[in-house]
Amino acid sequence: MGKDVIVACDFASAEQVFSFLDKFTEKKPFVKIGMELFYAEGPEIVRQIKARGHKIFLDLKLHDIPNTVKKAMAVLSNLDVDICNLHAAGTTAMMQAALEGLTRPDGTRPLLIAVTQLTSTDQESMERDLLIHAPIDQVVMHYAETAKNAGLDGIVCSPLEAGKVHEVCGKEFLTVTPGVRFADGEAGDQKRIMTPAQAREIGSDYIVVGRPITAAPDPVAAYNRCVAEFCD
Ligand code: C5P
Repeated sequence: MGKDVIVACDFASAEQVFSFLDKFTEKKPFVKIGMELFYAEGPEIVRQIKARGHKIFLDLKLHDIPNTVKKAMAVLSNLDVDICNLHAAGTTAMMQAALEGLTRPDGTRPLLIAVTQLTSTDQESMERDLLIHAPIDQVVMHYAETAKNAGLDGIVCSPLEAGKVHEVCGKEFLTVTPGVRFADGEAGDQKRIMTPAQAREIGSDYIVVGRPITAAPDPVAAYNRCVAEFCD
């Protein structure tokens, strides 16, 4: 798969997401569907967006015992999504079971990527609440390696970590990076940010961009700008 811009469709209803996607009459963007939209509208929203010709990253971050995750992944695989994800903290057994569940009878499957430590977790909360005492960047890299060794295709990480992840896990291991902002845009609640051009420079494979596109006065122009900076 080549580099692409994934639009985070963080909308609360089918109506809102379709009125947004209706604006894209030429190139159909790769779309990220998260928990809010999925839990509001159910699997039908995935089928409908897929039927409109979009690729889909279903961002549900599974984390449970291996057998449960395996069965859930088989359901997501039947929805024909392109990328789905889980928490690396579920350990190797859970990640391997997830891959088994995702694999269709013909051997094909969606890409599977891992969340390492959430960017909302910092050193202090990781030590206090999770009793993990290694430096957080080491923890992130260790989770990335564990995901790779389990057979996963990549991880979600900050664009600032993408270069290091490729060094440690290889060029083929995908880095999917949120926290992207235009040089002249608002950072909002994102703290560790990069422009699409910088993310490209550092080697991100996919950038996930939400509000800089969804809240732009002209979302199609903002999307095209992202594609021009990141992919072309
Ligand atoms: O609007 P914005 O560009 O900040 O959206 C980024 C998207 O990426 C959101 O859907 C957010 O939940 C997701 N995300 C993130 N940081 C992570 C993991 C996911 O911003 N570490």
